Amino acid sequence: MRKIITIFDTDPGIDDAFALSFLHESEVFDVKMVSSVAGNVKLTNTTRNLRGLVKAMDWDIPIHRGLDKPLFGPQILAEEFHGVDGLSGYLFDDSDLADMSDTPAVDAMAEVLKTNERVVIIAVGPLTNIGALILAHPELKEKISEITIMGGVVGTGNTTAVAEFNIYADPEAAKIVFESGIRVNMIGLNVTTKTYYNLAMHEQFKKSTKKINQILADIMDRRIAKTGAEENYTTYMHDTLTVMYHTNPEIFESTMVHMDVEIRGEFTRGMTVADMRAVSKACKNVTFVTDIDTKKFEEIFMKTLIG
Ligand code: RIB
Ligand code: CA
Repeated sequence: MRKIITIFDTDPGIDDAFALSFLHESEVFDVKMVSSVAGNVKLTNTTRNLRGLVKAMDWDIPIHRGLDKPLFGPQILAEEFHGVDGLSGYLFDDSDLADMSDTPAVDAMAEVLKTNERVVIIAVGPLTNIGALILAHPELKEKISEITIMGGVVGTGNTTAVAEFNIYADPEAAKIVFESGIRVNMIGLNVTTKTYYNLAMHEQFKKSTKKINQILADIMDRRIAKTGAEENYTTYMHDTLTVMYHTNPEIFESTMVHMDVEIRGEFTRGMTVADMRAVSKACKNVTFVTDIDTKKFEEIFMKTLIG
């Protein structure tokens, strides 16, 4: 079966770390590069975390540093959740970091597009790098078959009343992506909040003999301790679900809609606005994922990461 030629853009970030391992373990991908972006925490830390995680997986993959600020708006971080370092205080030693290319992420993405056909971009952080790529290289848009994002929500947000973090952190970049004419698959809070990492799963990670699983368990131990919810902790695997969209599409339900990104609203900046009207002249630019099979998510998640 033809592998999915993939670019992965991420802001590690606790849930990003699990998604990276899931991406690495999944056989359907031919990952050409991974790149960091500022998001959960500052670029210095998302980049360091990406290098440490790749080295821990013993993964021979080009790593590229992305952009450190949103395209136009103020920088928004999520350090209160992920910790200033991004992994709840888990710090990789300098000797435990994979080498990184000197080529900036957007330039490296352009090279991948120039030398490949039908490339899938999976973005699980703010869309800053992807928006910049589209602005700088419109002639390469035709080489991108799909952009699959963790981002957005139709309904209640997690960063404002109506906005999800990845979109809110760089709404202008998201607007560029949504209006690019490239097929966008939106895995938003509507479905990522139906995925759970719970203590029963955590026990299996702690027992795992795989180095990356021990690191993931250590990271989550620190997160659980910080919340004080030792008895009943659960958290969402937003970014792993996004990768799973391409490994197990059968567990997803979706609908094509016209989706806009609000960039000017005093209370609605970063809101993803879906036109769900039965009759609408607006072009249906986004595959909006509306439901998932939660039980199957957990089965696939554990089988892939724990074995
Ligand atoms: O809103 C959740 C998203 O924001 C996830 O990708 C998480 O890692 C953060 O980037
Ligand atoms: Ca993320």
